[in-house]
Amino acid sequence: MSKTTFSPVKLEGAVGKPLVRRSGREKVTGTATYTAEWKIDGMLHAVAVPSTIPHGKVLKIDDSDAKAMPGVRLILTPENVPDFERVQSGSETNFQTTIASSLFPAAEREVFHAGQYLAAVVADTFETARDAALAIKIEYEVDEHVTDIDKSPANEKPKSLMGAPPVIEIEDAEAELEKAEVLIDEQYPLYGNHHNPIEPHAAIAHWTKKNGKPFLTIYETSQSLSISQGSYAKVFGLSNKQVRVICKYMGGAFGSKGLTWPHALLACFCAKVVGAPVKVEVTRSQLYGGTGHRTPIRQRVAIGADKQGKIHSLIHAGFATTAIKDAYSEAFTMATRMMYQTDSLRLAQTQCRIHSQMPTFMRAPAETPGMFALESAMDELAVALEMDPIELRILNEPKKDLHQDKPFSGRHLVECLRTGAKQFGWEKRNPKPRSQREGHSLIGYGVAAATYPAIFFPTSARVTLYANGTAEIGCCSHEMGTGTVTVQTQVLADLLGIPASRVSMQLGDTDLPPGGISGGSSTTASLGGAIREAVKVIKPKLMKLAPKDSALAQAKPKEVTFKEGKLFVKGKSFAIEDLLSEANKDSISTVGTFKPGDDAPTANHSYGAQFVEVAVDETFGAVRLRRMLACYACGTILNAKTARSQFLGGMIMGVGHALQEATHWDHRIGRITNDNLAEYHIPVNADIPDMEVMWIDEPDYNASPIGAKGIGEIGITGVAAAIANAIFNATGKRIRELPIVPEKVMA
Ligand code: MOS
Repeated sequence: MSKTTFSPVKLEGAVGKPLVRRSGREKVTGTATYTAEWKIDGMLHAVAVPSTIPHGKVLKIDDSDAKAMPGVRLILTPENVPDFERVQSGSETNFQTTIASSLFPAAEREVFHAGQYLAAVVADTFETARDAALAIKIEYEVDEHVTDIDKSPANEKPKSLMGAPPVIEIEDAEAELEKAEVLIDEQYPLYGNHHNPIEPHAAIAHWTKKNGKPFLTIYETSQSLSISQGSYAKVFGLSNKQVRVICKYMGGAFGSKGLTWPHALLACFCAKVVGAPVKVEVTRSQLYGGTGHRTPIRQRVAIGADKQGKIHSLIHAGFATTAIKDAYSEAFTMATRMMYQTDSLRLAQTQCRIHSQMPTFMRAPAETPGMFALESAMDELAVALEMDPIELRILNEPKKDLHQDKPFSGRHLVECLRTGAKQFGWEKRNPKPRSQREGHSLIGYGVAAATYPAIFFPTSARVTLYANGTAEIGCCSHEMGTGTVTVQTQVLADLLGIPASRVSMQLGDTDLPPGGISGGSSTTASLGGAIREAVKVIKPKLMKLAPKDSALAQAKPKEVTFKEGKLFVKGKSFAIEDLLSEANKDSISTVGTFKPGDDAPTANHSYGAQFVEVAVDETFGAVRLRRMLACYACGTILNAKTARSQFLGGMIMGVGHALQEATHWDHRIGRITNDNLAEYHIPVNADIPDMEVMWIDEPDYNASPIGAKGIGEIGITGVAAAIANAIFNATGKRIRELPIVPEKVMA
């Protein structure tokens, strides 16, 4: 393609530099105010009473002991819950709202999962509220439940998989599979996972009056302030203008804070009834059932190839769970649409309903589980063919996106594989399993591909230029700690040609122009696009400030360029500060909006290659990682330091996914048993080896208005497969179920 969807723009100067994270100082000095740390006069504390049964009816809520405790202000139950609108779950409405579950807190008499908030206590202190919540006795009528993915019939077709149909077919893949010279047809079962951000969810609701009308301010750990503003407005019958949502800092989320979970609505309900600001802090254990999780999944991947390794049939099918009342459909077959060339393709998903909280997005939903199955199967095919797994992938590199029949934007998978292999020393690998031993350990190398789509949300950004030479960005986006503020100030700095130190950014408040969900690795490119638009719009405004007879006032905007904080036209330059001060203005401000097109002309994705070296002690079943290396292609890398951190974080989370993380239900009682960080294992420093991250830094102006694609999620994709493939290379044992805990490794 000669012409790109977006015109290239010069981002040279600050962009790409490893500038330090803007919020680092506030965070390490403790001056960053996280959601639960806001202090409001007269604030009370609410603690939820979660259901102890997975299914049934509430017969009686006995709050007599709780009521008698000094300091208890309110017991909220379905008897006194305030009026609200039963807004549908966002998962059922393509995320028109952020309401996670249509089971509202302290408002239901029917129970559909353990951990459902059936009542709440509001008290002067957290401790009193907690003790009183524990003193509430609920009598239930218990109904039958199912929490086991394998015990619920998976006969329901999802309505949509993030906009895609649940079944995709090209030719007859099953028939083609019959004819395969070499065949892989396996099952890859996965446990569910929980996100476990370091900062648990919290919300503070404060009802006041503004112009005689009710006004709701809510401080919330939210990845989607703008859309949640509209959701609160709908629930309480208000206009968006009567709701303000604030989240200035966030201690991780991984998708768990993308939607409005019941605790946040509970804070609003309690505050409304008690007539004072109310805070709800979700405990670590309440994150397991109070908020979402990654669903358990059952996957089948079948690949039919010829003896030369060409794929003729590719099948990826299976099912995931969703909640009883609402459906979130995990799109785990998505990446298989576009990864490899094949004559025939069949993707088919169904779902089953279990008595659990709603599943939700968790870092690279779709690709994290899906790529484990696909990339394990590709490794199995390479073994069957006695072929190098990198060469197998390169042999089956597609020329276009088969399903969408579109050319790819910036597809650099082959370069990632080759560059990474060279740096990793892949040529030293012996393809024969059990061929390398060191002491008690068997050594193995593994590789897998990574991918993630380039996703966008409509986003608006305000750019303000000041007469003192500084500039400011404002957008109701936020950051989970990812580096949004840092990289976006770099983008604006380069668009204006000024040092990044002169640019600041305001975010995390619905009083600012609206942003999308900070999920799907969408923020960087969407917000960057909005900033680029704002700079385009502010240029003619600045030109109008120039004296009428000047070259600048008489020029056309496209003849004028920004450089070094000046407007250049026909060899003359006009400093922004001078234009403003001569026009007697302190500042000039404008809002730019980026709206992604409905149908992009190209298939837009990021790519990567994951390499790992493991040492496996078979006697103890212990898998130690010795080295990890990844090479990514995500378009322009805006900040070398924050990007590296994002990639490393994703890879480390991939280690958890591969070897440690599993949510365990006791199916007899329908409850999660490992609802704490002692028993839900995530990697610690001692689990993590030497890690190296590289990238192919090439702007992708088909996918992105600033050439940069998101990087928050691709880091985790492919990691689990690379580890499983390395364990096979070490031991000759193919483990298809995650997590690969010691008992699965032991002979
Ligand atoms: Mo990400 S799971 O879309 O926050």
